[in-house]
Amino acid sequence: MPREQFSRGLTEKILRCAQDDKGRVFAIVHRTVAGFFREKEELTCDGVPLSEIARAVGTPVYVYSAASIEESFTRFDRALAPVPHLVCYAAKANSSLAIFKLLASLGAGADVVSGGELRACLASGFPAERVVFSGVGKTDAEIRDGVAAGILAFNAESDREIEKIDAEAARQGRKARVALRVNPDIDAKTHPYISTGLAHNKFGVDIGRAREIFKGSRRFAHVAMTGVQAHIGSQILETAPLEETARELVSLASDLAGRGFPIETVDIGGGLGVPSGRAEGLSQEQYAAALLPHLKALPFRILIEPGRSIVARAGALLTRVLYVKENRGRRFIVTDAGMNDLLRPPLYGAIHPIEPVSPGRGQTVTADVVGPICETSDFLARDREMPQVAEGDLLSVGDAGAYGFAMASNYNFRPRAAEVLVEAGGFRTIRRRETFEDLVRLEAE
Ligand code: LLP
Repeated sequence: MPREQFSRGLTEKILRCAQDDKGRVFAIVHRTVAGFFREKEELTCDGVPLSEIARAVGTPVYVYSAASIEESFTRFDRALAPVPHLVCYAAKANSSLAIFKLLASLGAGADVVSGGELRACLASGFPAERVVFSGVGKTDAEIRDGVAAGILAFNAESDREIEKIDAEAARQGRKARVALRVNPDIDAKTHPYISTGLAHNKFGVDIGRAREIFKGSRRFAHVAMTGVQAHIGSQILETAPLEETARELVSLASDLAGRGFPIETVDIGGGLGVPSGRAEGLSQEQYAAALLPHLKALPFRILIEPGRSIVARAGALLTRVLYVKENRGRRFIVTDAGMNDLLRPPLYGAIHPIEPVSPGRGQTVTADVVGPICETSDFLARDREMPQVAEGDLLSVGDAGAYGFAMASNYNFRPRAAEVLVEAGGFRTIRRRETFEDLVRLEAE
């Protein structure tokens, strides 16, 4: 008797029930199915039909599963339980306030990279002592706000930045905590645009200079050098580069602690990838199992900064087919979502699964799924084998919860899409669709 139940916020599908010898019925949960799955052939989010959401809110619309976000965070948190740790959600992956609130309420920390993210995260309930501030170009105003908030750490990316943090902390009569972001020259084996830990990347300071920088920081009375951090890149699909990073950081932190620096945290960054479509990537448990041997029994608190792996699979972009056309044998499915809504396919060659919300019509075809924007780079998929679709059909573009809406723009004077959160069996709009008036509000004629 298949049925669903909500337990600790996770949607679990009970596929089989059994009775024990006293006749008590108990359930065997086969797998959690938080997120996107078919029910009676209709694609749903946590059991809510996507067609219902599109009817109520229109398209394009981003849909997120609260249960799936909760599950991803909780699995990280549990998998790291053998060591003192803090999972700092990388706010840039999806900066919806409702998602910030959800993660803050679960006990997550936040990794922010701008004054705006800092303010939004603090306002959404992340306590300052769970916030780290990353970024290669922090402005004076951002440093001022971070110092005033009393954040867990600035992840400083240069000697000059530490000097500036010290001056600002002195001005405010405070002491700021700083972790040094090092560049370990490790190849994350990912797309070059999202690889950050190689010697020629702009991020961090050469790991070979770390001791000298820590030594130099002794002259700063308003800075406590409490940690080391690295983030070697995003969409990393194997553990070896992450393990190497952890090893390098731990060895550096131990050495610095031995030299009398008050090292409290080792922050190994984010980066755990989500492979395209249904392919199983590294789970949170596999990630932790690979890293924990390098992190155990240390006098440090371990920080991680996952973004994509918490929200990517929890989100989909719903879009409607406007036209189906053919040019010299090439089939184009023109949708109402374009590269302004989801930039990842043209920018990184990202492959997002695309499927009709209702069952497909007969045999598959090969097509380009393209948006309405006046650029050839405006595609969601190219040469994609997919079920036949027709004008008016709804399509779901999967794995879109991370770096989807967050990277959307108003290119071509297009209002940004609405965002919907599915939770506790229902759904609500967490960001309404922009209007023409929203777009012109800041203009002076
Ligand atoms: N920490 C720092 C310092 C970062 O720069 C980033 C991502 C993260 C953590 C989170 O990484 P994640 O766990 O999400 O991989 N727009 C690109 C991804 C850019 C990632 C930038 N930094 C994309 O759509 O693939």
